[in-house]
Amino acid sequence: MSAPLIRMTGVTKGFPGVVALDDVDLELAPGERLALVGENGAGKSTLMKLLSGIHAPDAGTIEIDGAPVVISGPAHAKELGISIIHQELGLVGDLTVAENIVLGREPRRGPLLSARATIDVATELLDRLGMVLDPRALVRDLTVGKQQMVEIAKALSVDARVLVLDEPTAALNEAEVQALFSLIDRFVTPTTGVIYISHRMDELPVVADRISVLRDGRNAGERDARTTPMREIVSLMVGREIAVDVRPAPAEVGDVVLEVQGLSSRHPLHEVSFTLRAGEILGFAGLMGAGRTELARAIVGADPITAGTVLVRGRPHRISSPAVAARLGIGYLSEDRKRYGALLEQTVADNIALSSLERFTRGGLVRGRAIERVATDLVARLRIRTPGVRQLVRNLSGGNQQKVIVAKWIHRDCDILIFDEPTRGIDVGAKDEIYRLLEELAAAGKAVVVISSELPEVLRLSHRIAVMAEGRIAAVLDNSEATQETIMEHATRFHETAVTGA
Ligand SMILES: Nc1ncnc2c1ncn2[C@@H]1O[C@H](COP(=O)(O)OP(=O)(O)OP(=O)(O)O)[C@@H](O)[C@H]1O
Ligand SMILES: [Mg+2]
Repeated sequence: MSAPLIRMTGVTKGFPGVVALDDVDLELAPGERLALVGENGAGKSTLMKLLSGIHAPDAGTIEIDGAPVVISGPAHAKELGISIIHQELGLVGDLTVAENIVLGREPRRGPLLSARATIDVATELLDRLGMVLDPRALVRDLTVGKQQMVEIAKALSVDARVLVLDEPTAALNEAEVQALFSLIDRFVTPTTGVIYISHRMDELPVVADRISVLRDGRNAGERDARTTPMREIVSLMVGREIAVDVRPAPAEVGDVVLEVQGLSSRHPLHEVSFTLRAGEILGFAGLMGAGRTELARAIVGADPITAGTVLVRGRPHRISSPAVAARLGIGYLSEDRKRYGALLEQTVADNIALSSLERFTRGGLVRGRAIERVATDLVARLRIRTPGVRQLVRNLSGGNQQKVIVAKWIHRDCDILIFDEPTRGIDVGAKDEIYRLLEELAAAGKAVVVISSELPEVLRLSHRIAVMAEGRIAAVLDNSEATQETIMEHATRFHETAVTGA
């Protein structure tokens, strides 16, 4: 038998106040696809950062092809054939797609950098990977999903033997997920291997051969990916059973609090109308590009509209910015958490309290004790893994950062809450808790909009489901009449006629 591609033995890594990894073993065989799963903060990304040379282990050994190695840094890891797509995208927003792909290895013609060659190299690679992306587009103008594709293209532009993907599908839609899976299929040969991190349980049997579970920084077990029931994996992860296939209890709805009439924007909204009542959770489903995020941004005044009216509690308002929306009691959690969401250099407590500072301010003084109490409570409830509420958010794992942002909006005193992809990157246990918090908000009379690309989540949460396609609302379904199939039918309706030209 050939030596494993990767063998990590007895690996331990600590940060101030945190034992991130405690005596962890991990093996990847040649030709194997290994899924690495665990709750937020379980240590998955840290383990992969040891492989990519970002961190050095405090103890333990790493072998490649049976030979011990000390990985001195990211460049060394690349030389060893390890290519990693990190959870937090590492792209430069002000550069183009092509420039990002070749970054660090720019093609030269003579002594000069060649812009032409950069475009050529990128175009060839994007074609080979079957990605439809404009190499000249600025990365910061792309959606999160498209940025992810650039990151993947970049990782596959070098000769890698081990490809590590840290939650690559968190921001992708169905079609992009399928495209990614076929890229992975093409990448895996008898001499290469993939380590795949995800919180989307349903994709594990499709993408992996074997599943390794981490829990609180330790090995919690290994299972066959294709034959093991998912609830067994979930209970290894979170140590308790999570109910699946739950539907919401019928809503006790009150008055219409938000009414959108004929909202259009230059791109891509066409006369979108809907109503939202107090006590209700309205889900928005649709393919990427269907206009869900654009609709949310138009409502809160983040993007300009060309026509239409937004009525808040029955009165028309000209909402020119999210700050104006907030004053009208409309809270908006953006899908792009890095750009708008967490203030990474602030503490957990400050982040949770920031959007509701008025409440904690007395005569200009912020009441630190009150903030800490509220924050401590939400940290416990959402199982935010942190040594304390005074920890900087930047030191939390990706999913725990997202929980902080969700906690901040849940805590904020808004009558109308619009959440765009609230559980992206959040583990199954904490998702369940967030669903319950959203239900509590609705039960307390708030009106909630949830945009989600995960159909099980839409079905789990929404009393009604608006399906968008091509910038329009294609259907509004009652939860009782909705299934994944009916939603997809509406979501692809215009799409298919457009493609077939019918
Ligand atoms: N640079 C750092 N400084 C302090 N603590 C850190 C640092 N990096 C990670 N940690 C802590 O180490 C633990 C493991 O984090 P890690 O990012 O590996 O989790 P994860 O399993 O990838 O979680 P997620 O699913 O949320 O991405 C967490 O408690 C995290 O807060
Ligand atoms: Mg992580």
